[in-house]
Amino acid sequence: MAGLISEEIIGRVQDSCDIAEIISGYIPLKRSGRNFKTLCPFHHEKTPSFMVNPDKQIFHCFGCGAGGNVFNFLMRHERMEFPEAVEYLAKKAGIVIPQKEIHDKQTLSLFQQLYKINELALNFYHEFLLNDKGAQDARDYLQKRKVDTDTIKKFKLGFAPDKWDSLINYLRQKNSSLNLLDKAGLIVAKEKSTGYYDRFRNRIIFPVWDVKERCIAFGARVLDDSLPKYINSPETPVYVKGNNLYGLNFSKEAIRESDFAIIVEGYMDFITVYQAGIENIIATSGTALTVEQIRLLKRYTHNVVLLFDADQAGVLATLRSLDIFLEEGMNVKVTSLDSGDPDLFIRKFGATKFKEMIKGASSLFDYKLRLLCSKYSPKEIEGKAKICNEMLPTINKFKDAILKFEYLKKLADSLQVSEEALRIELAKIKEPRAGVLKTEEPRTASNLKVVEKTLLKLMLEEERFIQNFKEKLEVADFQDPTCRQILDLMFDFVSQGKEIHPSKLISGCSDELLPKTIAQLCAEEITYPEDKDKIFHECVNRLKKDKIKNRCKELQGEIKLAECYGDREKLHQLMHEYNQLIKG
Ligand code: GTP
Ligand code: MN
Repeated sequence: MAGLISEEIIGRVQDSCDIAEIISGYIPLKRSGRNFKTLCPFHHEKTPSFMVNPDKQIFHCFGCGAGGNVFNFLMRHERMEFPEAVEYLAKKAGIVIPQKEIHDKQTLSLFQQLYKINELALNFYHEFLLNDKGAQDARDYLQKRKVDTDTIKKFKLGFAPDKWDSLINYLRQKNSSLNLLDKAGLIVAKEKSTGYYDRFRNRIIFPVWDVKERCIAFGARVLDDSLPKYINSPETPVYVKGNNLYGLNFSKEAIRESDFAIIVEGYMDFITVYQAGIENIIATSGTALTVEQIRLLKRYTHNVVLLFDADQAGVLATLRSLDIFLEEGMNVKVTSLDSGDPDLFIRKFGATKFKEMIKGASSLFDYKLRLLCSKYSPKEIEGKAKICNEMLPTINKFKDAILKFEYLKKLADSLQVSEEALRIELAKIKEPRAGVLKTEEPRTASNLKVVEKTLLKLMLEEERFIQNFKEKLEVADFQDPTCRQILDLMFDFVSQGKEIHPSKLISGCSDELLPKTIAQLCAEEITYPEDKDKIFHECVNRLKKDKIKNRCKELQGEIKLAECYGDREKLHQLMHEYNQLIKG
């Protein structure tokens, strides 16, 4: 990993410049109390809601939610990459950035350390797959599935040995700390004794990268039909599920060039289709697409073709989830295979047939209408009503009024119903969930659970709350992924004896959501109705109660299962835990 800048240098650069001074070099700032205000450069507005806070060294727009530290400003306003922004400000301040590679982990931010450890792990798995005797079965398996060596090398596929401690031993030799391995999700703490074991064992490894080519996680597939088929990395500070699309780092150029993206589900589908020369492809990794993923993709194209596997249960539910593409103003086409998955199709029929099939994809509207017509009878009144019920919400999601009304006409024609009646029904549909339709509304602090947000703000304001929190709860007790990420980061700062300063907390983080959220938390002035300690304890208690409630629910499920299996020892143990919890 070349091009790393030590955290110490980043900190010095930050200390040497003032965010208000830097920003005022690009846009005029007006004083407003302790802060500065101006018209937001990132969205169109008539009254200023863009605020710069010199105490905290952050900016935040109350209108569009943009926010972060001085680096985030330059990255967004001047379209600089992070290292570029650091270098630019360093130069201004006369700070020399040493060009030699940095090895001392103390000087790297947590993010950089995690990228690095993932890189080490991926090389270990990759080398093992390519060269080790113990990976013969894995090589045979991949050969059987027609994945060639160049492809294995391109996607750095690997194999995790069938042992409990291969990776741990390897990385310990390289002086990596268990704590870091744990943070990276590569190892799992033993339940019955102290110590850890490797998370991935006897599985093919698919490294997951972000668009900037940093390894952020792993997917791991078994070699046979055993379950679970895949084990994935848990969330970590660098891996927020639903913020990333598998393969986009490899396919972004091809997607931009062809101006459309093919979306498949599996890692294996991605790899075999890509290997066949069709490179404008990404994989969802089997989960429903999120707004973040769609916005990420939107940087490269506005057109997508979704390819479903054959005989998929719940296609209709999946189709409903596709409405978010329309909300984001994307054009969506859909097609599905008659049998098998894309991987099989390519092997059986080849790339040309595959491309033809993609070309023949229907619009989301047509696809959905056809599916519904095959499910309900479009000739009968009841059927018509059911079909309309499903179609209207989709039509309502089109941003373009012309499209909306053209599709309405089309639906009326296809079903032989009155357009007027459809229009009345369409008008009845309420605005969908806030934050989904209003695309400019950021999914940040305002939508987070209020309790988590309040706790974070208190902890950002006074460090003693962090220690206090740590004694009572843990990171996993937060529900919101971004909140968890922030908390994790704060814990890490504290454990390294570093002072928590919002603008420093953000540095080194590549995700946009996190800086935005921290800036928003800092910017919102809250007048606390009661003293902070009281509020803090109330929030902590709320989370504790939630935790117990959730665990009870889980336990009820586990107890039923143990009863089913007649596992009396387990049942006894679960009942005990349950009773303890309830007594609380
Ligand atoms: P093949 O069966 O080898 O073709 O694998 P595939 O990668 O094409 O997977 P499939 O189409 O069955 O599933 C799509 C994606 O869903 C996978 O790539 C995984 O990301 C995810 N997935 C599948 N099975 C599991 C599982 O058991 N657990 C988890 N967490 N994810 C899974
Ligand atoms: Mn597959």
